[in-house]
Amino acid sequence: MKTIYLDNNATTRVAPEVVAEMLPYFSDYYGNPSSMHYFGGQVEKKVVEAREKVAQLLNCDPSEIIFTSCGTESDSTAISGTLGSYPDKRHMVTTRVEHPAVLKPGAPFKQKRLRCTEVPVDRKGNLDISDMEQAITDATAVVSVMYANNETGVTFPIEAIGRL
Ligand SMILES: Cc1ncc(COP(=O)(O)O)c(C=O)c1O
Repeated sequence: MKTIYLDNNATTRVAPEVVAEMLPYFSDYYGNPSSMHYFGGQVEKKVVEAREKVAQLLNCDPSEIIFTSCGTESDSTAISGTLGSYPDKRHMVTTRVEHPAVLKPGAPFKQKRLRCTEVPVDRKGNLDISDMEQAITDATAVVSVMYANNETGVTFPIEAIGRL
């Protein structure tokens, strides 16, 4: 039977060249890059190299690149990290259609008495920039908004939101 996969918005096949590049690190170079021994040191060199390549691609400093294990950890690191940098600001703005990893950051929010405003979207999934403008206040530390919705295909005006 021929399989036609139509859910690439959810997850997609890893590119063959990425698989080829990664394979040695599953079988030959599997040392812990944080270890002091030579076996781990070889891997650390490669991690440093990968960080430099990604930084070059994104036109930023390698120290700004943090590798995470998954999407949820990435969201959590970005949101919690930014909130931590603005201890006087207790407010986050997002939209009602974000992934649960953004909408339900859970315990840390409750413990630290942080407030979250979820800006609604219309029936077609579009965001009204004036709603976003209203939601952002002087108490807002983080605005977490997806660029392209993986279910509706709608893109949000990310540059305009950035300016706000
Ligand atoms: C914004 C966002 N955060 C988190 C996740 C969950 O990713 P993971 O299963 O890698 O934690 C997804 C998955 O699509 C996502 O789109």
